[in-house]
Amino acid sequence: MKLKTIIITGGAGFIGSHVVRLFVNKYPDYKIVNLDKLTYAGNLANLKDIEKKSNYEFLKGDICDAELIQNIFEKYNFDGVIHLAAESHVDRSISNPMEFVKTNVIGTVTLLNAAKHFWKASLDSIPKGNLFYHVSTDEVYGSLGKKGKFKETTSYDPHSPYSSSKASSDHFVRAYHDTFGLPVVISNCSNNYGSFHFPEKLIPLAINNIKNNKPVPVYGKGANVRDWLFVEDHARAIDVIYHKGKVGDTYNIGGNNEWKNIDLIKLLCKVMDEKLGRKKGESAKLITFVKDRAGHDLRYAIDSSKLQKKLKWRPSLKFEKGLKKTVDWYLANEEWLKDVTSGDYQKYYDQQYVIR
Ligand code: NAD
Ligand code: DAU
Repeated sequence: MKLKTIIITGGAGFIGSHVVRLFVNKYPDYKIVNLDKLTYAGNLANLKDIEKKSNYEFLKGDICDAELIQNIFEKYNFDGVIHLAAESHVDRSISNPMEFVKTNVIGTVTLLNAAKHFWKASLDSIPKGNLFYHVSTDEVYGSLGKKGKFKETTSYDPHSPYSSSKASSDHFVRAYHDTFGLPVVISNCSNNYGSFHFPEKLIPLAINNIKNNKPVPVYGKGANVRDWLFVEDHARAIDVIYHKGKVGDTYNIGGNNEWKNIDLIKLLCKVMDEKLGRKKGESAKLITFVKDRAGHDLRYAIDSSKLQKKLKWRPSLKFEKGLKKTVDWYLANEEWLKDVTSGDYQKYYDQQYVIR
């Protein structure tokens, strides 16, 4: 029997590296090909522990490069695609929307075209078990008021260039299913946290700043709410959906774990005081309220009951435990942090925050 050959895009990024690790370790009979452009967010150090495994291969390349993608599909004859490559940071999308259109929209359609072309034989006859899995975000649904949760049937209402580009890519994936019969599945997940998270995002940025006694920037009044999920739980959900999800369906993934930003940062400061042996309340003195993000969505919350009921997935880790585990990882991996915060990081960081 032919081995399952799967291309995972964006596998050197935060979530992608956890998905690659899970698949390489759990499925020794599969061949996992990681295609990543290695932007500022991609880092092969995220995969050091599995890079020599015989069922793993890394390819450096851009998902927007149609010729390269065609060649790769021809060479490997993939059974499945798990597509995570994206520009993922909302603030960067506000300063440079076009990068998001290129990678998130054009890159996704380039991959869809290749899958459509190379899987044509199975599209025309009995499905051969190919699957194009598109990993998306809850931000496509827009912003919630104080009540309610996003369901799979919630209308799309994106507000940032990032979420608009992800919404657009979701629409293209569904269009290729409806128009060309491409076997697709989509998941929309809430905010992830955990190891290998690039320190431009709230939790790793705050850990890094607290550690270095730098201000912890909180946008606006810190009243925005996010639903946090441990990244390894997201990777497990992707595994379950890839193998058991219904073709053509969408699954919401979430932590059932809503936190107001300011409350989360206060909890993190408490954990950091304990871990760094600081006096109680010491780290919280670093909290600094800064200018709000433009078009800042107030609240995200995911209803993941479909995934829980139909595919029996559940988040495994309580937030307080996951947060401590995450802090431990960052404190034990100073070299990684130093490495990813060199280069253009400081320039980006300096432009970002205006103290109110
Ligand atoms: P990330 O920014 O950490 O990683 C993105 C990866 O994609 C990097 O390795 C980067 O080098 C690669 N990449 C970027 N442009 C590329 C291109 N043109 N060609 C090939 N590779 C390219 O992102 P992440 O947080 O790991 O998010 C991964 C996916 O999950 C994204 O699609 C994102 O929209 C989605 N998502 C993220 C979250 C979250 O909380 N981080 C939540 C829900 C969904
Ligand atoms: O909901 C899923 C999304 O979560 C993913 O699709 C995105 O790729 C991912 O980046 C994340 O988007 P957010 O904008 O929610 O994450 P971020 O870590 O940038 O911000 C979390 C919240 O914290 C948000 O309300 C903005 C706020 N914030 C962020 C930063 C970086 C601050 O108050 N201060 C900060 O310095």
